[in-house]
Amino acid sequence: MSDRGSFSSRMGFILAAAGSAVGLGNIWRFPYLAGTNGGAGFLFIYLLCIVSLCIPVMIGEIAIGRNAGSDAYGSYQKLGGGKWGYLGIYGILAGIIILSYYNVVAGWAFGYFLEISFGNLLNHQNFGEFFGEYVNAIGPIFLFSLGFMIMTAVIVSQGIAKGIEAANKIMMPGLYIILIGLIIYSLTLNNAMDGVRFYLVPQLENITLKTIFYALCQAFFSLSLGMGCLVTYGSYVTKDQNIVKSAAIISGADTSVAFLAGLLVFPLVFSLGAEPGQGPKLIFVILTQAFSTMGPIVGRIVGGSFFLLICFAALTSTISLLEVPAAFFVDTRKLPRKAVVWGLSGFIFVLGLPSMFSQGIIPFLNKLPVHNSPDFLSFIADLCDIMLISGGCLMCFFIRNRWKVDSLNKELAIGNPSYLGTALQSYINFSISWVCPIILSILTTLVVIDKFFGLEWLFG
Ligand code: PHE
Repeated sequence: MSDRGSFSSRMGFILAAAGSAVGLGNIWRFPYLAGTNGGAGFLFIYLLCIVSLCIPVMIGEIAIGRNAGSDAYGSYQKLGGGKWGYLGIYGILAGIIILSYYNVVAGWAFGYFLEISFGNLLNHQNFGEFFGEYVNAIGPIFLFSLGFMIMTAVIVSQGIAKGIEAANKIMMPGLYIILIGLIIYSLTLNNAMDGVRFYLVPQLENITLKTIFYALCQAFFSLSLGMGCLVTYGSYVTKDQNIVKSAAIISGADTSVAFLAGLLVFPLVFSLGAEPGQGPKLIFVILTQAFSTMGPIVGRIVGGSFFLLICFAALTSTISLLEVPAAFFVDTRKLPRKAVVWGLSGFIFVLGLPSMFSQGIIPFLNKLPVHNSPDFLSFIADLCDIMLISGGCLMCFFIRNRWKVDSLNKELAIGNPSYLGTALQSYINFSISWVCPIILSILTTLVVIDKFFGLEWLFG
């Protein structure tokens, strides 16, 4: 166990888990999904998913990790025996695949930081066109993604307390400060209130089955659930910590950043007369356009710092994505941390190349012969979403049928003795034993049908 390490304090764990949760998912993906899926209706379903499904799943994952004290594979294997270890492997694979494409998007954000701070990006006229050309400029993106992967590897190879904890302590507060500052600015613009209305006043007729699918997948992705990340981080948590409270703080932090990102983006979208449903390029286009109106110097400083903070947020997430497979090789396979981290990083970077080349430069990767013909990056992202919600579902079955809710309750009472017998305990038990397994099985099946065949196939 000597190479394992643990978080040096309660705050250390919360910051690292919140750092994992807060990332491109909140600032890049949440606003564009809300934009394409009806705004406020999406936000409403998203919040519902967080409270009813995600927080219980998060509590379950942390408890499993702390009780077993091992990586994702080792934990399920130790507590479940038999084939349960494969559930850990499933999560580890999901982590590897997510990191492969996530690192590419992080490379875009890193490039935007450099282009805004030191280049001429803000002088452009058509920011949508610029984005399209930029993500296909393979040379720079290759270098930026590689740089990002190297930074991740350097931090993860330092181990838990030194690398992961220290990095998070600085980055998280900075992100809040700049987000709030920008929101105040965006709310003063013309037509900003139309954006606020779009984002906060739900129109029930806009909520469809797809809204539910996207909101659910986004909630799992944003909270880093369903792939053993919190099992792994939970294994570094000491016994005196209150898991339920930590989970509440982590989800609160993550949800507030996503919420604030929306509150920043939609007033900007409406005040610029832009289209909220423009997909993955939304924040790259809208924000740069907004920064360009701030004047050459202010735009550069504010825009540069904003994209820098997005990169920080992405980095604390890539760290956690790499830690999950790394912990497996260090704990279960007993390999040295540094060699594992560098080997994995190289492998995952190469695995991400098709995603990098899928934005137009290689036509085949841009229009795959599957339903909806998405590009390779979106296809992989869809696949990972399915892995996360099904992984979360299987974890609930694991607690319900194998490890048992009683063991969960005992673990949660450590560091929180007054937990037993409370209404909260009944709620979490009920959610993990019934609500999550049933709802997540049904939704996972429907999402698979929707993504690969189209719902029309089912409903005609
Ligand atoms: N939660 C991260 C984000 O929102 C992404 C992530 C997913 C990280 C799964 C770890 C595990 O950006």
